[in-house]
Amino acid sequence: MRVLVIGSGAREHALLLALSRDPQVTGLVVAPGNAGTGRLAEQHNVDITSSAEVVALARKVEADLVVIGPEVPLVLGVADAVRAAGIACFGPGKDAARIEGSKAFAKEVMAAAGVRTASSEIVDNPGHLDAALDRFGPPAGDPAWVVKDDSLAAGKGVVVTSDRDAARAHAAGLLEAGHPVLLESFLDGPEVSLFCVVDGPTVVPLLAAQDFKRVGDGDAGPNTGGMGAYAPVPWLPDDVYRDIVSRIVEPVAAELVKRGSPFSGLLYAGMAITSNGPAVVEFNCRFGDPETQAVLALLNSPLGQLLYAAGTGTLADFGPLQWREGAAVTVVLAAENYPGRPRVGDVISGSEADGVLHAGTARRDDGAIVSSGGRVLSVVGTGPDLSAARQRAYQILDSIRLPGSHFRTDIGQRAAEGQITV
Ligand code: GLY
Repeated sequence: MRVLVIGSGAREHALLLALSRDPQVTGLVVAPGNAGTGRLAEQHNVDITSSAEVVALARKVEADLVVIGPEVPLVLGVADAVRAAGIACFGPGKDAARIEGSKAFAKEVMAAAGVRTASSEIVDNPGHLDAALDRFGPPAGDPAWVVKDDSLAAGKGVVVTSDRDAARAHAAGLLEAGHPVLLESFLDGPEVSLFCVVDGPTVVPLLAAQDFKRVGDGDAGPNTGGMGAYAPVPWLPDDVYRDIVSRIVEPVAAELVKRGSPFSGLLYAGMAITSNGPAVVEFNCRFGDPETQAVLALLNSPLGQLLYAAGTGTLADFGPLQWREGAAVTVVLAAENYPGRPRVGDVISGSEADGVLHAGTARRDDGAIVSSGGRVLSVVGTGPDLSAARQRAYQILDSIRLPGSHFRTDIGQRAAEGQITV
């Protein structure tokens, strides 16, 4: 089977690495890829938001399966076009991708499916903002306003703050830019990401993972696209994991089938494990980054065959997934000034070691690998337990040099020390 992967991040690098371990995968192509993916796949430069370009490339490289990594092409309907061209595709069509593309749609589906989530309100008129902020202000003792961009924002459109002025400024800025704002009640409790391969009503869950969204140690500083992750999640009780699948993901998948927008691809349930049980923070319509890098490092089942089964409507026959024992930790190396405007163009050394996945990297004409984005590398360590996996990830990071770069030193630390309880 020849597989074309669309995207250019560490998530796509991780997908290619796992696909390359599947004996039935005979050829790998990536578009556009990065400086690290060229070792695994033939690279082509296309506009990934253009259905015509993606379909033309899939035909040219004789792909049996197209796997679309990022949300933007999915929300634009690129998967529909690939399927209409008669090529199997892993990724939801435009209708089902609204579960991520429109937070208002996601809330409607969750309400119809009877799934617990934060209460919310859309504000699209600046004149209504202050009254709405008052309705969502932190009640005594609660920490925060949650202000979200009701459109795709690459993880950076969310501000969680107990400072009303900061909440107001973020919301006003979004409204000024013409983006509706979603105000939400704050969900207490640690967060967990559960990725499920979904084919209509059929749901196959992967290992749970936790990601780290704030830029600094101890969850300090602004939100980012993700600074690290670990899997599995030792503090998540098995019955809660099963409840997330059977009471949250399966009802949402069934609701999408009922609405005539069946989901085919990766349904990402971002959960808060609150004192009242699990509640949805958000759904995404694709593999999450950086959790994918940790989760796929532990997958023993053949990924190409799994994604092909979902893409061809035969997931129900696939059988249970096999996992490697132990744990995986991924730590993101970010460029100077990220999540602000990152410094780019610096030479990176040590990035070709095992366990190093590339994101914002490019190869210069002289062959040097240079930074080309905010999140530059994702380093993955595995081991018999979380502490060993953490140690391995940080050991690999030690041998990488990128001027001005930064990373969090506490990825998975509290979980490894048994400090998270639900
Ligand atoms: N891990 C956050 C995301 O992928 O959106």
